[in-house]
Amino acid sequence: MKKVLIINASVRNERSYSRKLSQLFVDNWKSKYPQDMVSYREVGTDIIPGIDESWIAGAFIKPADRSEASERALSLSNELVNELKEHDIYVIATPMYNWSIPSGLKAYIDQIMRFNKTWKFRSGVPDGDYVGLLENKKMFILSSRGDTGYGENEKNGHMNFQTTYLKFIFGIMGIEDMTIFSLDNEEFGGEIFEKSKNEIFETISSIE
Ligand SMILES: Cc1cc2nc3c(=O)[nH]c(=O)nc-3n(C[C@H](O)[C@H](O)[C@H](O)COP(=O)(O)O)c2cc1C
Repeated sequence: MKKVLIINASVRNERSYSRKLSQLFVDNWKSKYPQDMVSYREVGTDIIPGIDESWIAGAFIKPADRSEASERALSLSNELVNELKEHDIYVIATPMYNWSIPSGLKAYIDQIMRFNKTWKFRSGVPDGDYVGLLENKKMFILSSRGDTGYGENEKNGHMNFQTTYLKFIFGIMGIEDMTIFSLDNEEFGGEIFEKSKNEIFETISSIE
C-alpha cells in the first residue's frame, strides 16, 4: 500500500485546470491502485504562513537550544515535513503565475526546506554540497499555463521559472524520480486549448 499526497496550489477552485489535472490523476490512480491512500494538502486557497525571524532562529540549531517562540514558529513546518516523510508519492498541481509558482506554493516550499530534515550538507557544515533527505519518493508535477513553448529548447524556455524551479528544489530535497506534465494554452482557448486538454487528459489517465 502506497500513500499519495496531492498538493493543490491554484487560488481558483472550480475554474482551475491544475485542480482538474490532479482530480484526473486521483481518479486514474484509485482505479489502478484501489488499496493506496490519497490525502490532500491545500496551499492555494489555505494560507501557508511565510517563514519569519523566530522560524529562522530555530531552524538551523539543535531542538534543545530553541526558544519557545522558535518552537512555535516551527510547528507547522514540522507537521508539513512529517506529512511528506509519511507519504511515498507526491503530486503537485500548480498554475504558472508570472512565469513562476503561486506565492502559497513558495511559502509551502520555504516551510519544508528544513535543514537536517529534508536536506543537509554532506560534511555536516556549509560545504555547498547538498544531500536530499526525502529518499525513495516519487513525484508528479501537473502544471497549468496560459501560454506555451516553455520546454528547455523552446521559444519561452528562458521564461520558465515554474517547472524548472520545482524540479530543482525538490531535487535538492532528494527527489530523483520526477515526472512533469503541463497543460498549456489556457489563455488562447478555442481549438488549440481543446487539443492540449485532450492530449494531457489522456496522458494523465494512462499513468501507471
Ligand atoms: C496572476 C496570474 C499570472 C499568470 N501568469 C502567467 C504566466 O506568467 N505565464 C503563463 O503562461 N500563464 C500565466 N497565467 C495563466 C495561468 O497559468 C493559467 O490560467 C492557469 O490555467 C492557471 O491555473 P489554474 O487553472 O489551475 O487556476 C497567469 C494567470 C494568473 C491569474
